[in-house]
Parts: sequence; structure tokens; C-alpha cells
Amino acid sequence: MSKNILILPGDGIGPEIVSEAMKVLVCLRDDYGLDVDMDEALVGGAAYDAIGHPLPEATLQYAREADAVLLGAVGGPKWEPLDISVRPEKGLLGLRSELGLFANLRPAILYPQLAEASTLRPEVVSGLDIMIVRELTGGIYFGQPRGVRDLENGEKEGYNTLIYKESEVERIVRVAMDIAMKRGRRVCSVDKANVLECTELWREVAIRAGSDYPDVELSHMYVDNAAMQLVRAPKQFDVMVTTNMFGDILSDCAAMLTGSIGMLPSASLDENGKGMYEPIHGSAPDISGKGLANPLATILSVAMLLRYSLDEPSLAERIEQAVNSVLDSGLRTPDIASPGTVEVGTSEMGDAVVKALRAA
Ligand code: IPM
Ligand code: MG
Repeated sequence: MSKNILILPGDGIGPEIVSEAMKVLVCLRDDYGLDVDMDEALVGGAAYDAIGHPLPEATLQYAREADAVLLGAVGGPKWEPLDISVRPEKGLLGLRSELGLFANLRPAILYPQLAEASTLRPEVVSGLDIMIVRELTGGIYFGQPRGVRDLENGEKEGYNTLIYKESEVERIVRVAMDIAMKRGRRVCSVDKANVLECTELWREVAIRAGSDYPDVELSHMYVDNAAMQLVRAPKQFDVMVTTNMFGDILSDCAAMLTGSIGMLPSASLDENGKGMYEPIHGSAPDISGKGLANPLATILSVAMLLRYSLDEPSLAERIEQAVNSVLDSGLRTPDIASPGTVEVGTSEMGDAVVKALRAA
């Protein structure tokens, strides 16, 4: 039976990069017999402009019915003045929470061809291959109570709640452990157990869940130290597992080690492996509509989609190999360009990946 992929282009560079990823899907369908169909729907600012809400009911319904979701990016300065309840980001957060996508996988891999593009010295980052496992539907992002209230003395007070149940910690730690079993067998759980009770519990649960995996070496690190270690000696890490907010911050930091945030895909999975796939970068309003955006993170997100939701690991590998050979050939979008390489735009990059796929 054919698999259904819901495409959510979103805002800013979202539509540009997603259409390159769709070229790749079409190529796999036409040339490699991948049995998929694609539907498109609105999310984020585009949805707000069209119908007044960043996550229309129809979009949510399509997403629930789809086998996987591919998303571009949401947000932009145009929608910043809106009330927080209808900002584009709410569309993304709503999808994550409504679909139960609690496990966010953010690989930070350095392509050897791009070692020069990193701001860190090549010897610090060469061979880098970290998997950040971020809890995505809990913690301070969703904790209640939250808001801004008026105090008696006339000033306002803002507040959010960092909250995790044992079961929420346990299931994300298990995801990290399972992933570690298939790679370096080391998991570093990142918390702030020296200050925050909630993450003191996180650490206790991580130790308990981790004891079921005798083959995986579990370590613990405070988040401030983890941030420092990521830029000091990032290759010490194999899999990192952490809370929603710490994961948000650390994954941007890890992304930059690889030279460009424009290269990194992500997967957000539910209990059954259904997932939403998106580049980890944002909507880049500064370059939107100019044909300059790097589509490779979105194309690599399609590879993750094939691997985790469609059970097509060999097609996933083909995409990754095609990206590799395009990088080998010296083509670069501006974000990853360096002296001696050939600068191309968004659609030329997408076409080059499709050509490499066809040639394989
Ligand atoms: C991310 C983004 C989102 C987040 C924003 C756009 C809501 O930064 O996916 O990392 O904070 O989770
Ligand atoms: Mg982020």
C-alpha cells in the first residue's frame, strides 16, 4: 500500500527547500519504485495568513493520518508582533505535542568535505558524529502554570514551569539507549541536577533506566559544562540525551560545529516510529525568496524519514551517498562555500542531488 507523506512547507525559505526535497522524493518514486504519495498543507505564518491560525484543524487531521510529515520551517519577523498563542512557532509546537512526537533526534555529523567551514579547528571537529536526543513534548516548553501576571506593586512577573514525570524521562532515555546500542554505546545524560530538583529526578530515572542496558556506558553532565565540552572537545560525545530546552540550546551549538546549520536534518518520533522530519535550521527570513538557501538539511531529513518511518534504509543511504558525491564534486550553497568550491543556488543544489541519485 502506498505511503502518504504530508508536506508542510511553512514560511521563509521553507517552501524553497521543501520543493528541492520533493524533487528527491519524486526521483525515488519514479526511478526506484518508492510507493509514496504526497499531500501539502499549511502551517505557521502561512496558515495564519490564510485562515487565522498557525495550526489549522485540517492540517492536524492530515498529519494524524499521514505515515510521515516533512516540514520546512516556520516563523519570521512579519508575525513577531502577534500574540504568542497564534505565532507561527505555536504551529510547530502544536504538531509536536498533538502527534506525541516526544523523541527528537538531531545528528551532528561533520562531512569531511566541509571541515574548513567549521569555526573550530579541523582537528577538533574532523570525524565528528554526535546524536543529540532531545525530549520534545514536555519540560518547560509545555509545563503549566505559565504566563505573565500583575503583582500588587504594579510590576509584572513572568513564569514558566519545568516539569517532568518519571515516565517521560524514562521513555526518552530508553530511546537514547537504543540508539547508542546501534552506534558507539555511550550515552551522556545532560541535566542541571546541582540546582534543579526536576533534573535531579531526571538523573535518578536515567540511572535506573540505563541499568537495563549493561552494554551502554551512561555518564552525566551538567548542562553548562556540556555546552563548554561541546566546543572544547566535541568528539568525546556519542549520544547525548537531555530535556526539551537544554536540547534546543545544545543542538544549535552542536550544529555549528559542523560548519553550517544548513546541513543538519532532524526526526521527531512518537512511540510507534511515526515521525515529523525537518531541517534543524529556521526560516531564514534574510535570504528567503533569493534562491540562496541550502536544501541539503531538508533533503537529508527525507533520508531520515525513509529510515525511521518508511523502513527504507537502503534508499536513505542512497540519498546520503548522493549528497556526499555532490559535496565531493565541489558544489556549495553560499553558507558552506569556501575558496576553490563552486557556488550554486538552492535549486541547482537540489538538481545536483537528483542527478547524483540517478547516476548511482
Ligand atoms: C527548534 C526551534 C523551535 C524550538 C522553535 C522554532 C519553536 O528552535 O526546533 O529547535 O524551540 O523547539
Ligand atoms: Mg532550536
